[in-house]
Amino acid sequence: MEYKNSDLKKLATEIERDLKSEKSTKELKAKYLGKQGLFSSQLKKIGTIAKEKRAEYGKEANTLKQYIEESLEQKAFTELNKISTSKQIDVTAKFDINTPEEKKPKLLSQPGSQHPLTQELEYILGIFTSMGFDIEECRQIDNDYNMFEALNFPKGHPARDLWDTFWTDENLIPPAHTSTMQNRVLRKYEPPIRVVIPGRCYRNEATDASHEHTLHQIEGVYVDQGISLGDMIGTIKTYLEAFFNTELKAKVQPAFFPFTEPDLEFLISCPFCAQAGCNICGKTGWIEAMGCGMIHPNVLKEGGLDPEKYSGFAWGFGLDRLVMIKNGIEDIRWLHSGNLNFIKQF
Ligand code: DAH
Repeated sequence: MEYKNSDLKKLATEIERDLKSEKSTKELKAKYLGKQGLFSSQLKKIGTIAKEKRAEYGKEANTLKQYIEESLEQKAFTELNKISTSKQIDVTAKFDINTPEEKKPKLLSQPGSQHPLTQELEYILGIFTSMGFDIEECRQIDNDYNMFEALNFPKGHPARDLWDTFWTDENLIPPAHTSTMQNRVLRKYEPPIRVVIPGRCYRNEATDASHEHTLHQIEGVYVDQGISLGDMIGTIKTYLEAFFNTELKAKVQPAFFPFTEPDLEFLISCPFCAQAGCNICGKTGWIEAMGCGMIHPNVLKEGGLDPEKYSGFAWGFGLDRLVMIKNGIEDIRWLHSGNLNFIKQF
């Protein structure tokens, strides 16, 4: 653009030069568009322009202003891009529990920060990968077969109630637990099967500090010949000790799930008070970590496996709760609040 007004022309040339320099966008914005800036001061001179030239001057000044604004916007965008591309992480890098902390990909060093659930999920999947597990992702919408029938819930059985939540008109359901993936995994893999399945689950809950309608679970499925309850206890304990980074005592107690036999609750000694009794363990010295059990023969059969030949165990635990316990988060609703002050602490 050729400016007829010589002052505007001079200003335009100076801006062109500055845009090519090392000066930051912030600095240039202040220099030209700030209250005392060169452009703002120039605009004030309109009173000194001869009346018949004012319209033309106004038009040129507007064009120049638009040019400055657009150029600075573009410059800011380029600067931001430079920051994020210079700190890219190698997404193909393999890391596990033994990788030193400083070598793990750290999204925190980039603009923004990673959600504590994502951080812990990556950490947990690292533990299971190093133990030889594959990873499958849970679906976010499922059907009656995977939700109930394949898991040994007879039609109309009251055991369905706990997981019977929201049906769509097409007879689909958002999964209330990650166990809905068990049948798919049993069919997809050949024994030995070792798979963990993270996923988002949906419950019919009245929310409070420890209940949310949307939560995350990690399912585990392990099947081979001659797998026993001892293998289950050893595997889950190994994982939890790696997660809490300390030695733990473990015990199981009876529970009820239609898809396991026996059905169990896995408990660990409180990693925070060495069983002296604290608020986290409700003064009991024990923490309920997850539901688990030996996979019911009907579930194996439905997954295309001969229960006479194969046995296995499965578990499902709530990621949100473990992350809360580990990080001392008191209210589960913080996790979904989107509050940046909360997220930035991690
Ligand atoms: N799906 C159960 C729940 O949401 C947890 C669970 C228990 C998963 C036993 C399993 C299992 O795989 O074997 O409460």
